[in-house]
Amino acid sequence: MRKLGKRKVSWLAGLVSACLLLLVGFNEHPPKQVEMTGMISVAHRGASSYAPENTQAAFRKGLELGADFLECDVHLSKDGELIIMHDDKVDRTTNGKGFVKDYTLDELKQLDVGTAFGATFSGEKIMTLDELLDEFYGEIGLLIEIKKSNLYPGIEEKVVALLKKHGDVSGIIVQSFDIESMRKIHSLLPELQIAVLMKPSTLLPSAKRLEDLTSFATYINFDVSYINKRMVDRIHAYGGKVLVWSKRDQQLISKAFQYGVDGIITDFSRWPVEEPTFMVRQ
Ligand code: G3P
Ligand code: CA
Repeated sequence: MRKLGKRKVSWLAGLVSACLLLLVGFNEHPPKQVEMTGMISVAHRGASSYAPENTQAAFRKGLELGADFLECDVHLSKDGELIIMHDDKVDRTTNGKGFVKDYTLDELKQLDVGTAFGATFSGEKIMTLDELLDEFYGEIGLLIEIKKSNLYPGIEEKVVALLKKHGDVSGIIVQSFDIESMRKIHSLLPELQIAVLMKPSTLLPSAKRLEDLTSFATYINFDVSYINKRMVDRIHAYGGKVLVWSKRDQQLISKAFQYGVDGIITDFSRWPVEEPTFMVRQ
């Protein structure tokens, strides 16, 4: 009875949000509202619909738009610095070519990570994880994704050492598709919250698998297209939480409500880039 009441409240919150979205949807480019009662909103690579992904500009925009967390992706430079970028190569987002691991930090800092997104962002520089923590931690939560840990032996120790340097880790979550890497992070710093990212092919994890994952991970996160309510309920029953992401925020928000997840990882898409989210329905 109590559970049903909670669900009704959640749907009501969804409808109210949807109406708000409809109202703002006719302005030219207003910020997308992704505030949803009881759900965490995470700015995916920063508010990456507004500014070049994984840059200071995108992180500042995520903070401005009221996200609860900033998500970022981390690699190691040739000289062992933790830097923020999504791909293991610099080609897509900068004016350089080649692998991050073949550049020193000084060389990476010469690259322009803004122009590929838009001329107004020309001159934007790659950030280090240390710089991100310095500027944003304390203001907003951080969801730090370790990319391609197989390319970077020792990256877990480096991340943990850096987080320890910044002290309190209660507002930080570290995540990866590499489950063993996350198990290692947990063993190095048990008080840190861990998230494991599930690959698209992942079926509903078995009871044994869920027991294992939730023994060290607080969150089990999915692309919203590869999960359903049954899986979310099952993970909740094992004490885990679920965050979902998608390239399309309309689908993301609608399904997040349907499935009862704990939060969304969003690019903060702008109207009229996507269809209105009033498609959310009971
Ligand atoms: O936080 C989940 C999401 O970031 C995983 O996908 O490719 O955007 O890093 P990707
Ligand atoms: Ca990511």
